[in-house]
Amino acid sequence: MNLKQTKFSAAVPVVANERLAADTFKITLDAPGFAPLVKPGQFALLRLPGRLDPLCGRPFAVYDADPASGRVEMIYLVVGKMTRILSDAAAGDTVELIGPSGNGWEVISGGAQRFPGDRLIMVAGGVGQTPFLLLARQFAQYRAQGKSAPDLTLLYGARGSERMPPLGDFARCGVEVITATEDGSAGYKGFVTDLIPRAAAGAESAVVAACGPKPMLRAVFHQASGLSLPCWTSLESPMSCGLGICFGCVVEYRTDEGKWDYRRTCQDGPIFDAYRLKWD
Ligand SMILES: Cc1cc2nc3c(=O)[nH]c(=O)nc-3n(C[C@H](O)[C@H](O)[C@H](O)COP(=O)(O)OP(=O)(O)OC[C@H]3O[C@@H](n4cnc5c(N)ncnc54)[C@H](O)[C@@H]3O)c2cc1C
Ligand code: FES
Repeated sequence: MNLKQTKFSAAVPVVANERLAADTFKITLDAPGFAPLVKPGQFALLRLPGRLDPLCGRPFAVYDADPASGRVEMIYLVVGKMTRILSDAAAGDTVELIGPSGNGWEVISGGAQRFPGDRLIMVAGGVGQTPFLLLARQFAQYRAQGKSAPDLTLLYGARGSERMPPLGDFARCGVEVITATEDGSAGYKGFVTDLIPRAAAGAESAVVAACGPKPMLRAVFHQASGLSLPCWTSLESPMSCGLGICFGCVVEYRTDEGKWDYRRTCQDGPIFDAYRLKWD
């Protein structure tokens, strides 16, 4: 994979860039050539045009993409150089959009239409809800068409309520949303991972999917494996090229033969079977 093989790469106009919570923004882009290409769980690189610093695009999950209007949304946390500059972007500015990239959630079903479980427990920390909305919407559409779809639960955790973005988009897709904060300022007081056993209770075959900071993903994996549940993680590992060239995003991965090998998060992920990753 390189830039020539990328499906979409262009400077696109910013439609809006609004603050959702502390250090958390949603950017809306007008990208009709990009929106129809996106599969749930994929990401895109955003780059600031005309700037050499930062040089490389930064990866962000595609939160929403509407092929009809061409609108594409990403939700981002301000953590460093690029996101700080991006938070000043205004309607009419442009950003470079590259992608969509990565495997997406259909890796869970191996591309088959039928999801291998009767409940999907999505566990998100920080901005970890971002790769889940398009998946939830896809299942809502299946249900509306009379097709089979799992019950959906989103367990969302943040340090405090000031960092919690609105989650109404999920409720509108029929998702049961349960929140947790470490300081108890909203929802359950404690770690979001504490909520997994109760969310799994009553399901015949629950599947856990998680996105968030590494310590949270590790805790999700330990909870899920303790309950013998399948567990998938969407990694937010730092990337350099984001295009499969530099191997700066590799993770250790257990192969079918039980040997440790490496996989590139930007090409082979970002979604991996948690049972194949190293968590210690
Ligand atoms: C597949 C994928 C999807 C992602 N989706 C989102 C999303 O939807 N919303 C969102 O806010 N972020 C997301 N991220 C993380 C996002 O890419 C980083 O926050 C961003 O690259 C930071 O860029 P920066 O220039 O602002 O920070 P930098 O100046 O590059 O770094 C600032 C600080 O953050 C650290 N850092 C940088 N990137 C990461 C990272 N990925 N994980 C942990 N620490 C990091 C650096 O070590 C440094 O300390 C995703 C990452 C991946 C790989
Ligand atoms: S970031 Fe360069 S290969 Fe993945």
